[in-house]
Amino acid sequence: MQIQTAQESPALKPADLESLRVLIADDEPIICKTLSLFLRHIGINIIQTVSDGSYAVEELCRNSYDYVFVDLMMPRLTGLDVLKKVSESHPLSNVIIMTGFPSMDTVIEAMHYGASDFLVKPFRFEDVKIGLERMQTIRRLKEKNWQLHEELNKKKEVEELNYELEKRIRLQTILYNIVDSLSKINRSESLYHYIVRKAADSCNARRACFMIYDQGNSHLLAIAQEGLTGRFTGLQAVFRTDSEGTRILEDDFLSRHFGASSDTALPLNRITRVNGLMGVPFNIRNEPFGVLLIGEKTGRESFDTEDEFIIKFLAEKAALSIENIALYDNLKESLIATLKSLVSAIEAKDPYTQQHSSRVTEYASRIAMKMNCDHEVLQKLASVAPLHDIGKIGVNDAILNKPGRLTQEEFSHIMAHPLIGVNIVSPLGLDEEELSVIRNHHERWDGQGYPDHLRGSQIPMLARILAVADAFDAMNSDRAYRKALPSSDCMQELRKGCGTQFDPSVVEVAMDVLST
Ligand SMILES: [Fe+2]
Repeated sequence: MQIQTAQESPALKPADLESLRVLIADDEPIICKTLSLFLRHIGINIIQTVSDGSYAVEELCRNSYDYVFVDLMMPRLTGLDVLKKVSESHPLSNVIIMTGFPSMDTVIEAMHYGASDFLVKPFRFEDVKIGLERMQTIRRLKEKNWQLHEELNKKKEVEELNYELEKRIRLQTILYNIVDSLSKINRSESLYHYIVRKAADSCNARRACFMIYDQGNSHLLAIAQEGLTGRFTGLQAVFRTDSEGTRILEDDFLSRHFGASSDTALPLNRITRVNGLMGVPFNIRNEPFGVLLIGEKTGRESFDTEDEFIIKFLAEKAALSIENIALYDNLKESLIATLKSLVSAIEAKDPYTQQHSSRVTEYASRIAMKMNCDHEVLQKLASVAPLHDIGKIGVNDAILNKPGRLTQEEFSHIMAHPLIGVNIVSPLGLDEEELSVIRNHHERWDGQGYPDHLRGSQIPMLARILAVADAFDAMNSDRAYRKALPSSDCMQELRKGCGTQFDPSVVEVAMDVLST
């Protein structure tokens, strides 16, 4: 039989064959020798021979081979043992089992462990060559497949890293936003509403409620909510204390407002996830202050450790903010009280303006209440309206108390009092709405007022209300140069000023409120 050369076969390219590494394991030296000669003849240069299975395994531990020709029956380790070793540690190697007595069971077992081919002794070189051609094709496919597999793994790895990165960025953004937002909130009411909104938003939850312990420490009182159904004002829940001192909330509040199952028991001394609910304690100076409840995560998912981490962070930072706001409120109240007593002292010097600021505050509050301003706005008005004329401290008494007509220059001094007032209260950190009461209470509806010449709805609402209350009291009180006008005349004057000096909607309410 004529041996076909490698050059004649497209599957066996000389360049590929030169770099192939072949191991031959057979206890018959003649097989090792003749097979080596044939392989060299077709262009394979790197060939190692060993005389039994153990040597083959040792050699495979030291070096890797593209093809392993292994005799099935050898001393110490069989060809199948070598095959198992190769399939475990060298998945890209091809094993060719050589045997003189092939049985169907042996063939099946060898195929099971990944044998690439069988050579039945005595074999022809042509059979070896045909086998090599087929295995070279398979080998290339296996290498390509391996390469694709590796690329796929890398892609998956990159995708997983990207996913992790996005998760971390999202988490960091949420934490940053929490810190940033909390630093800008200086009112308790705003803070509680922020806590429930942020908790629901960050955890993709539909419901959240912030509750504080009442003074008797047997109830929790809801003070801010997001997404709860039904009546909210005055909502309470009863908790019990177990033998170990742990407070446990198992009120039907949880089933009514959070859809939790009726047997839900929520410990209040630690962050807890139970029955689709999450409860987070709020402690201030290590004393229980309240609890944040979150429920109904979208998609019927359960709250996870990331949700827990975010809410724990929110609770810790918000508890600090609550404490700071309480301290700030005390300080602010004390400063406002000082300034109010200053205003009273100044007013007391002039018998015609005594108690003016407190009356204006009362009138303005009645008008604002009738106009359905919310509780927070009413509180702002009550605290800052007494200070609306505090800037008059900076105006010469001789001008302030001058009984006759003021010169243009004297009036320009008077006109400075809103801005002087804003400067005086600047350490209080009042917000825009509060400051507007001091700065803009002399603006006019037609834009002819001062200091900013705002017109119509440009003038903040509290300043419009205060302007009407201020004018009413000025007309309704004795002055050095005239007696107090009767209420009916004052009303008449307010009506005349509708649409020029005053906001018509405020005057309309004032007519109703101040006539009694
Ligand atoms: Fe004023």
